[in-house]
Amino acid sequence: MTCIWNLRVFLFLVSVALAYKERECALPQREREMGSISMLFFFFLILVGCAVQSHGGKTSSFVRKDEKAIDMALDSDVFTVPAGYNAPQQVHIIQGDMNGEAVIVSWVTQDEPGSSKVLYGTSEEKLEFSAEGKVTQYKFYTYTSGFIHRCTLRKLKHDTKYYYEVGFGHTTRKFWFTTPPKVGPDVPYTFGLIGDLGQSYDSNRTLTHYEMNPVKGKTVLFVGDLSYADNYPNHDNVRWDTWGRFVERSTAYQPWIWTAGNHEIDFAPEIGETIPFKPFTHRYPVPYRASGSTTPFWYSIKRASAYIIVLASYSAYGKYTPQFKWLEAEFPKVNRSETPWLIVLMHSPWYNSYNYHYMEGESMRVMYEPWFVKYKVDVVFAGHVHAYERSERVSNVAFNIVNGLCMPLPDPSAPVYITIGDGGNLEGLATNMTEPQPEYSAYRESSFGHATFDIKNRTHAYYAWHRNQDGYAVEADTMWFYNRFCNAMDEPSASS
Ligand SMILES: [Fe+2]
Repeated sequence: MTCIWNLRVFLFLVSVALAYKERECALPQREREMGSISMLFFFFLILVGCAVQSHGGKTSSFVRKDEKAIDMALDSDVFTVPAGYNAPQQVHIIQGDMNGEAVIVSWVTQDEPGSSKVLYGTSEEKLEFSAEGKVTQYKFYTYTSGFIHRCTLRKLKHDTKYYYEVGFGHTTRKFWFTTPPKVGPDVPYTFGLIGDLGQSYDSNRTLTHYEMNPVKGKTVLFVGDLSYADNYPNHDNVRWDTWGRFVERSTAYQPWIWTAGNHEIDFAPEIGETIPFKPFTHRYPVPYRASGSTTPFWYSIKRASAYIIVLASYSAYGKYTPQFKWLEAEFPKVNRSETPWLIVLMHSPWYNSYNYHYMEGESMRVMYEPWFVKYKVDVVFAGHVHAYERSERVSNVAFNIVNGLCMPLPDPSAPVYITIGDGGNLEGLATNMTEPQPEYSAYRESSFGHATFDIKNRTHAYYAWHRNQDGYAVEADTMWFYNRFCNAMDEPSASS
């Protein structure tokens, strides 16, 4: 941002100089000469200052060894099918309502439908509650899915550890989760951030680093692109199953809030598969109805002191579309006195200075950015670009078709944009960046990793990005967030 500010300072000084020149005409010649020399020296100093400071943010000097990301073999231990006839597998949970008093449990049984019942309770020995779910199945080209169960547990107490068991009739398995605290403005809560995960050896490192991070994430905000099954011939859906088993070690115990990415589209008319998002919507339910949404691709939830809006980069978002109308009505519903932290998830980033997927988010930015500024979104997390980037607080909303004012400018009401598509999938890293680094880009690095967003209270949240090459506790890029509604002061320079 320094150059933009310096440009403004420079223009100000030019106007000062012109005013000085007018006044100078009235002075004797020697004094005029001395004044001109002083003025020239003064301008020289300003120009040097501009030249020294005219750069964007930081492009990390860390160079990761450039290796191809390779998917883990089908017989890898992380893909092991649990023992026992018709044992539940690919278990995962997600918040099941608006306020965190419900959880949707999902799992797959491979041999027969079995039971969709969940027993649950606060004592591991005595699961006193029971809920009945339903089962579904889908075909994709020559693949037929296992039996996919989903069951919603309701009226849960806040901030409580629940045990739950699935697989009745044959092999049962037991897991646990902790419900979030009651929604409120000063409720501390820690979110994990993962995107574009896939199922490579790097993906496994990312998940391990998230699990081993001493700052314990309680819920993952996942910014899209889950299994990358569509990179296999005929979108081999077996890779959706392996992915579900791989991530179960986290997804069975804490909610992952899903965002649809382009690898969830699975549109393959060449093999007769013309219903977009078929595997994703069958496997990964989200509580979209709770926020008045009409499809699973955009929705919102409240969790602790955060209001989280999930948007769909690959559903229509133009004026008059269902997503547009929903979002237009959704922003005014956010009560920042109840949930001060307003977080938006999407897959395709709006501010991206890598040459990969460059400008793909632009049309959605043009449609929605004025609302993001008006409603003071704190932070936007996106994926898609397989690298890491954090922006300054900027907006680019002055432009209309005749004024030519298209330029990201510092804006304290604007969100910070974070691209965290660095989960480590088989497509490898995005390494090619636009040069020079744009003014709005605060930090960027081509490494795999994850982040945490640690809300302390209504005014402060601590954000940290971790690269996989470091020890579990090492923070590669950090920032103290000041809440845009409760504490809208300039944040101190991020340390990175
Ligand atoms: Fe993507």
